[in-house]
Amino acid sequence: MAPGAAAALALTLLLAAAARPAAAWDLWALRCGFSADCECGFGPDLRGLECDLAMNLVGQPLVRQQVVKGVREFLENRNPVKPLVMSFHGSTGTGKTYVSSMLIRYLFQGGLQSPYVHQFSPIVHFPHAERIEQYKESLKRWIQGNLTNCGRSAFLFDEMDKMHPGLIDVIMPFLGPSWVVYGTNYRKAIFIFISNAGGEQINEMTLALWRAHKDREEISLQDLELAISQAVFENPQSGFWKSGIINEHLIDLVVPFLPLKRHHVKQCVVSELIQQGLEVRPDVVQDVADSIPYFPEEEKMFSSTGCKTVASRISFFF
Ligand SMILES: Nc1ncnc2c1ncn2[C@@H]1O[C@H](COP(=O)(O)OP(=O)(O)OP(=O)(O)O)[C@@H](O)[C@H]1O
Ligand SMILES: *[C@@H]1O[C@H](CO)[C@@H](O)[C@H](O)[C@H]1NC(C)=O
Ligand SMILES: [Mg+2]
Repeated sequence: MAPGAAAALALTLLLAAAARPAAAWDLWALRCGFSADCECGFGPDLRGLECDLAMNLVGQPLVRQQVVKGVREFLENRNPVKPLVMSFHGSTGTGKTYVSSMLIRYLFQGGLQSPYVHQFSPIVHFPHAERIEQYKESLKRWIQGNLTNCGRSAFLFDEMDKMHPGLIDVIMPFLGPSWVVYGTNYRKAIFIFISNAGGEQINEMTLALWRAHKDREEISLQDLELAISQAVFENPQSGFWKSGIINEHLIDLVVPFLPLKRHHVKQCVVSELIQQGLEVRPDVVQDVADSIPYFPEEEKMFSSTGCKTVASRISFFF
């Protein structure tokens, strides 16, 4: 067969395969092969993650690099010495929840609905300060129970800045490099902490760097790391304070989310219009972006609410 014909045949086969609505299960089986991890609905698609982040996450070059690199290195290691622990920091609407759920979607079948993915939010799960002892017991039992069930579990802790320090103490033993805690092997687990802590410092630093003509693409993790750890781990108001979480090197990745500029907000408006099946009208994009507050007072460079209120504002302008 001539090379041209072979290519045409291959293309036809490919198109035929694509046209057939493959059952989600087929795809999943393909993705995880015969890996034992698959028992836990675990089938990482890092290429998909990388692609989705590149296409849809705006204005966060550091996040993209950090998250993909961190997860890849962790998963390539057949015998990790400790679980993967990431801490997301940044002000509201910069994409922390968005990235964490995207990541989970590319790791676990069913995404956030997977029985191996566990989300905790202090105001939902641990609202009463007087019940702290009881919460500590349950949280320890849950993490332990779920890790016994499946070592490849993920635990997401949102609003860490509102988390009682006693609860952080309970989580800590699971993050370190010891073999077993409470009789459980937990080194393949993934922990993600999310908070606004350090957000103000990240914003200030980004602003200062912008004033020094440094583009956000040029900002390095080193530029921000010290400011974040001072705000988050050395601040007595913070739940992380004295937890030893940083001194013991329990956190593998500190991931800063930068404040978003007006043109990023516009990109969020465009994505949202497309997602809602609406026409992308330039006047609507402009009006929605203009309706959002920006800081600092003089230059109005960065969105005070990131892209958070974009979806709800569209109906006012369309
Ligand atoms: N960097 C971004 N790129 C693309 N979309 C974004 C980005 N940041 C936010 N968004 C959009 O805005 C919505 C709200 O963002 P998200 O919930 O992730 O904010 P957050 O950082 O978790 O804020 P909070 O601290 O208030 O919880 C997302 O669902 C997404 O549609
Ligand atoms: C796993 O965690 C959930 C909370 O996300 C809890 O309800 C459940 O009881 C835990 N499972 C085990 C076996 O401990
Ligand atoms: Mg959030």
